[in-house]
Amino acid sequence: MGREARRYEQVAEHIRDQVRRGVLRPGERLPSVRELGRRLGVSVSTVVEGYGLLQDERLIEPRPRSGFFVRAPARRPPAPSMSRPEAFPVPVTVSELALQVVQAGRSPGVIQMGTALPRTDFPAVGQLHRILARLARRPDPRMSDYDMPPGNAELRRQIARRAVEAGVAVDPDEVVVTNGCQEALVLALRAVTRAGDTVAIESPAFYGTLQAIESLGLKALEIPTDPRHGISLDALRLALEQWPLAAVILTPSFSNPLGYSMADARKGELVALLESAGVPLVEDDIYGDLNHAGTRPKAARAWDETGNVLLCSSLSKTLDPGLRIGWIMPGRFREAVVHLKLVSSMASPTLPAFAAGRYLESGGHDRHLRRARRAYRERRDRFLDLAQRLLPEGSRVTAPEGGFIAWVELPRGTDALALYHRAMQRGVSIAPGPLFSPSGRYERFVRLNFGQVDHEAMGRGLEVIRALLNEGC
Ligand SMILES: Cc1ncc(COP(=O)(O)O)c(C=O)c1O
Repeated sequence: MGREARRYEQVAEHIRDQVRRGVLRPGERLPSVRELGRRLGVSVSTVVEGYGLLQDERLIEPRPRSGFFVRAPARRPPAPSMSRPEAFPVPVTVSELALQVVQAGRSPGVIQMGTALPRTDFPAVGQLHRILARLARRPDPRMSDYDMPPGNAELRRQIARRAVEAGVAVDPDEVVVTNGCQEALVLALRAVTRAGDTVAIESPAFYGTLQAIESLGLKALEIPTDPRHGISLDALRLALEQWPLAAVILTPSFSNPLGYSMADARKGELVALLESAGVPLVEDDIYGDLNHAGTRPKAARAWDETGNVLLCSSLSKTLDPGLRIGWIMPGRFREAVVHLKLVSSMASPTLPAFAAGRYLESGGHDRHLRRARRAYRERRDRFLDLAQRLLPEGSRVTAPEGGFIAWVELPRGTDALALYHRAMQRGVSIAPGPLFSPSGRYERFVRLNFGQVDHEAMGRGLEVIRALLNEGC
């Protein structure tokens, strides 16, 4: 990010902070661009750009001949409350349903709200594909060689360079390239657990994590989780006293499906708690770069001083899931992870790693992220407006501050699995709640992707859901 870009971001953050702290209230007038420029020591055009950003975020609005004002917040559905899962470890059985949903959700002509696929119509994806084509055209024997673990050196250097934004100082030698974040999560779990062990998870949790736990013969202990603040550290503390936990696996920044982001202080507390208990943290940071406003949240790994956090991520949500470029920073488990990567898939495909390294080196990724963040924020706001109007009384919806996924609690009596099947028949894919729990909970919840569909399709999708609920789903 260039210096000018940072300045107008700083102007925007200054105003956001004043709104957050109540210094500026809804309906109040902002300082004039000239006045604020003088106060912050920046040019008028920098303030204009900063105000433009806040307008895009729908935090402020211009009024003819009067300047800029703080917008009144739109009416939104309430958020679901803290989850209350089983208080003991359970075996996981979600794989069959997960496979069904993943396959069915991709049928052509379906309104895609059921998968966690990102938008791939951003210019950066075209740029990446051009790099791939250029590399593929040129005869280069390196492209046909195995890319042995830890993987492509330039890509690992770029990943380490970008980790600084998440507060993580990592040597490129520690980074191991994987086939997406899913492989990183599996390698991490294999490095720190054995069959029969118990792993603590957030609740609800990403079904890919649940499937990994199931396939490794592990048990899951669900920790009560708040849709805005993340897992209850008190509950986790109690679980650590009560059960022999082999690991904790979490998505502390913009989790799937809840969308919460843990505050910095809580991330620090989590890392310290697990360090003193001698339990490794597998951190899934796949959505961390997709904050809708402000600065990117720090990864929990930023507080790790002993190598107890295995940080997993990929380019799947920020750029292109088809590329299958992921990575793990395994901390003190590096040797085990490199060995496991070698025996499980030998190497990752060579060409995509080269292309991803070149793409990240080319410097356009920050601009792309700014565009993607803005796009997802706009779609979230539209989605919440539509949800407020179209979902029945008694529905509750999360309002994530990053990513493109919402968790929706539907009125009592809803059967999310029946709703899923009936919605598919009407051309709308949704993800039913029980997919996100090892014990089949969340029968009246659904996860919806608001990032992939435009306003019109989103409205049609929600209308189908409303009609089916009226019919008694
Ligand atoms: C939280 C989370 N982790 C991991 C993954 C898997 O990512 P990848 O496609 O990079 O393997 C997903 C994909 O949906 C996800 O939502």
